[in-house]
Amino acid sequence: MQFPDHPVPIVVLTGAGISKESGLDTFRDEDGIWSKVRIEDVATPEAFRRDPERVMEFYNHRRAGLLDPAVHPNEAHKALARLQESWPEEVMVVTQNIDNLHERGGAKDVVHMHGELLKVRCEACGNISEWLEDLTIDTPCFVCGSVGTKRPHVVWFGEMPLHMDKIEWALTHCGLFVSIGTSGNVYPAAGFVSMARLRGKAYTIELNLEPSEGSSLFHECRHGQATDLVPAFVDELLMRNAA
Ligand code: APR
Ligand code: ZN
Repeated sequence: MQFPDHPVPIVVLTGAGISKESGLDTFRDEDGIWSKVRIEDVATPEAFRRDPERVMEFYNHRRAGLLDPAVHPNEAHKALARLQESWPEEVMVVTQNIDNLHERGGAKDVVHMHGELLKVRCEACGNISEWLEDLTIDTPCFVCGSVGTKRPHVVWFGEMPLHMDKIEWALTHCGLFVSIGTSGNVYPAAGFVSMARLRGKAYTIELNLEPSEGSSLFHECRHGQATDLVPAFVDELLMRNAA
């Protein structure tokens, strides 16, 4: 399959690699998050039931890291916003990341399938609200008043990712699927390329520092830093379609 003349609608999937050059750790690189702490201790419902303080502390630390003034969107985040601006309503950004760097880089309607680090959810009333400070297990819900029901609005291992219907529809109706900065280790995101290619008609391309677990499933792979690959790819796309 050749690169499509008319690639829209486009679905972009991003992972931790797109935020690495903004100073946020990835998960499975050498110095990644899972080399310092175990998933079973901080990122499962069982961990939260067993030791809620430990889980809260893990996300409080990451929330404070994201709010560090030194952390800001990079050229890859901004390039995707530029693509959305050039083709309004035709570019869906789906991210596995819980940071807000896509939004701060100008992207619109970002689909956070693993939730958002700067939001908390009440398990009693379902309220989801922005939260920028430390969260403790005793933080009361200001909507329903319950205590002990607040948790980070983040999808843990063993929980259902968010917005899957919307994502699956988009994957099976897009002309181009671009995967950026993800190792292809975690489903369902790791299966998106097959859904776009086999159930849809999409041309599929991977932009990543190195071949991911699923790189053989893509029509095309380009390897390097996201801040080099993504702006160049967006320029190429826009040039192709300007002619
Ligand atoms: N530019 C491009 N790609 C990069 C860069 C960079 N500067 N730095 C790292 N990468 C690539 C790595 O080569 C790796 O393939 O980004 C990928 C990051 O992979 P992971 O650390 O596994 O992160 P991700 O794929 O987003 O993990 C998926 O797993 O732990 C869960 O919920 C968590 O959302 C996360 C999910
Ligand atoms: Zn509540």
